[in-house]
Amino acid sequence: MSLSPRLETLASLIEKEYDHIWDCCCDHGILGRSLMDRHPSSVVHFVDQVDSIIRQLQETLAVSCDLSKRWRVYCMDLNELILPNSKESHLVIIAGVGGDLIAQFVENILKNNPGQRIDFLLCPIRQIYWLRGCLSDLGLGVIDEKIVSDKGLFYELLYISTSSDRPLSKTGDRMWNFTLTEHQAYIEQILKHYQSMRKGRPEEAASALSDYQQLLK
Ligand SMILES: C[S@@+](CC[C@H](N)C(=O)[O-])C[C@H]1O[C@@H](n2cnc3c(N)ncnc32)[C@H](O)[C@@H]1O
Repeated sequence: MSLSPRLETLASLIEKEYDHIWDCCCDHGILGRSLMDRHPSSVVHFVDQVDSIIRQLQETLAVSCDLSKRWRVYCMDLNELILPNSKESHLVIIAGVGGDLIAQFVENILKNNPGQRIDFLLCPIRQIYWLRGCLSDLGLGVIDEKIVSDKGLFYELLYISTSSDRPLSKTGDRMWNFTLTEHQAYIEQILKHYQSMRKGRPEEAASALSDYQQLLK
């Protein structure tokens, strides 16, 4: 199954085999279906709050998957997710929703599954600097991070974990390569965004601008 550059890069970041992979906010389940082929030993769980999406996905999976594939579907609010079997490994993927929602989901998943080791693979839309701060405050550390451009938009992909002690920076660190014109264009876009925010939210803009400008020194 072919994926968009955003989802393909997200899938390629997964660096180990997990017992359980959770495609959360899965919509039509394109990412999770591709991961079923790439990680046949994992159980792939599809979660979305829209009943018609989940019913349709269940029918598609029932027809298209051979019996060796292991999958489950759930129509539920992601804020209420309880992960089964705390001794097994879990990767929770949340992509294609706003940074504010992702912060809320991650906070609730950690609250509902106390003490559990969880890796997260996140692809937020917007509010990335703020989200990174929230995730760091929740005690999550970074495994890997990447910038990807897809249909003229830039995305930051965050592979983070409750068990990584590598600090997650608010601006990103290892993902930047300023010899690439794409990364130059992306940082320009970020700086412009915070410059235009200076009137309305001066403190937030000043702190973000100063942090991003440090990257260029
Ligand atoms: C734009 S789609 C993202 C699809 C895919 N993950 C991607 O990155 O392309 C967002 C999905 O999030 C789901 N969603 C939003 N809030 C949710 C919640 N609280 N619990 C579960 N699913 C939610 C919506 O129903 C929708 O299908």
